[in-house]
Amino acid sequence: MTKAKKKIVYVCTNCGYESLTWLGKCPMCSEWNTFTEEVKETKKEKSKKLLKETEVFSLNNVVVNEEERIKTNVDEFDRVLGGGLMPGSVVLIAGDPGIGKSTLVMQAAAKINGTVLYVTGEESVMQIKLRSTRLKIKSNNLLVLAETDLDTIKSTIKKVSPSVVIVDSIQTVNNPDLENAAGTITQIRECTLSLMGEAKKSAFAALLVGHVTKEGFIAGPKVLEHIVDAVLQFEGEKNHSYRILRALKNRFGNTNEIGIFEMHSDGLSEVKNPSEIFLSERYGNTTGAIVTSSMEGTRPVLFEVQALVTPSGFGNPQRVATGFDYRRLSILLAVLQKRAGLRLSSHNVFLNMAGGIRIFEPAVDLAVCSAITSSLSNKPCRESTVVIGEVGLGGEIRSVGNIEKRIQEAYKLGFENIVIPKNNIKSIKRKSKINVIPVENLVSAIEEILS
Ligand code: TYD
Ligand code: MG
Repeated sequence: MTKAKKKIVYVCTNCGYESLTWLGKCPMCSEWNTFTEEVKETKKEKSKKLLKETEVFSLNNVVVNEEERIKTNVDEFDRVLGGGLMPGSVVLIAGDPGIGKSTLVMQAAAKINGTVLYVTGEESVMQIKLRSTRLKIKSNNLLVLAETDLDTIKSTIKKVSPSVVIVDSIQTVNNPDLENAAGTITQIRECTLSLMGEAKKSAFAALLVGHVTKEGFIAGPKVLEHIVDAVLQFEGEKNHSYRILRALKNRFGNTNEIGIFEMHSDGLSEVKNPSEIFLSERYGNTTGAIVTSSMEGTRPVLFEVQALVTPSGFGNPQRVATGFDYRRLSILLAVLQKRAGLRLSSHNVFLNMAGGIRIFEPAVDLAVCSAITSSLSNKPCRESTVVIGEVGLGGEIRSVGNIEKRIQEAYKLGFENIVIPKNNIKSIKRKSKINVIPVENLVSAIEEILS
């Protein structure tokens, strides 16, 4: 018999580091004020297990069956998942409260071919029904269980043997064997591990919904990120109707993929052509604005880069970047100053990626530089033009990936010109009707773009 002994430990809510005393600063992740008290159970005796012989496989003989994937039949969702849910896998969907996580999983649940068990710990069956009516869902395969007790959830899973189990949210699930309250790190971790074991054993896919704390961490912390197979973040601004589903981690697919949705009064709809929405509110050819393209997963997305450069008077000049890395902006400003002779030290620079998109790709550098120069010099950029290129510290324009796809997308959306790095020219196989302008360095590129 194993005897459990209880002890109090302090756990960092950010990284899961455990300490015997309360600490102000976490020695592992360096965050302040993240420790909470938890009861930890230690097993005193090790159970005497017989050594088991396990099989080893030659990698060549392992067969992966892609067809096993359970499609949610929501294309944007499937794409982010890497083609669908893998049986036996656990996927965490994280996001702010009210962003639409329950709506997303419910819409997906209704379209899945196979039995789906929707476990809700936050809402009553009534509330789920009201939401499904609002979403106009009619599905015989969708079973709802309003329950927070882990054992009951597990026994229900055994009873109905679903192909997908949705737990909304993992923070509400409670393992009665543990002394900690539901929502504490120990509870979240143990419940996830337990459901994971169950998923592997019974080969269903588990979709766990998790809230993000006000600090922006996935509550039931980073610890979960290591355990689960995929972490999808559902994000967007409350006052914008667009929502982006982004894979932060995916053991079964590409993490660069995003899915774009729009929230309506009757649920989320998929946005098949993201460029159109990001460009929909463009206002003529003003100064400081230029269209560029960024690869979001395998798709190029066109959007507008906006810059506003104003004199800072006697104060310290401000640099504000929305949707773009602040440090990257500082580097580009230094390059503009040194290589193109722009005087920006007495100017505020505000940079915005329109439409609320967040960009991590250096391919938008040249567009950022052009928008800033255009705003400073009060000259509009060339009309009907898309600008692409990475800017090096020497002021050279460096090549970018997926050039053909980007050109194709620009052409499809009716642009007449596209400025691209000269080195990319040789990688273009297919001729397009769009006017391609190759550029080699920052000065000549800006001349082309502002002419
Ligand atoms: P919900 O899916 O409950 O968010 P979460 O599970 O992430 O907390 O949805 C939150 C918001 O979405 C809610 O404030 C209302 C809005 N909403 C719509 O606009 N249309 C809809 O059809 C639904 C179901 C919700
Ligand atoms: Mg919810």
